[in-house]
Amino acid sequence: TYVVTDNCIKCKYTDCVEVCPVDCFYEGENMLVINPDECIDCGVCEPECPAEAILPDTEPGLEKWIEINAEYAAKWPNITVKKDPLPEAAEFDGKAGKFEQYFS
Ligand code: SF4
Ligand code: F3S
Repeated sequence: TYVVTDNCIKCKYTDCVEVCPVDCFYEGENMLVINPDECIDCGVCEPECPAEAILPDTEPGLEKWIEINAEYAAKWPNITVKKDPLPEAAEFDGKAGKFEQYFS
């Protein structure tokens, strides 16, 4: 499966939802997550994310994000249509420490 990671936070570009063939993205206030039970591992979303926030869960060090994607995909609503990025997206793209301050 693929997972959405830190750099989506406060950017939320949503290009990813347009290309996912199984509509498995779920939306929080400041980021999206992928439902690991629905993702078919096609990989088409990874290069579409301007923030490079989507990674295969086989990358090292993603344990926290694997748990977060699974947990919040069960809590947040499904999103299938692209919308405007968050107004502060450009400012927050690439910033460190977004999870601690802004995860929601
Ligand atoms: Fe959707 Fe494919 Fe990305 Fe999984 S890897 S979230 S199925 S686009
Ligand atoms: Fe987030 Fe990238 Fe999608 S910033 S909303 S994972 S396109």
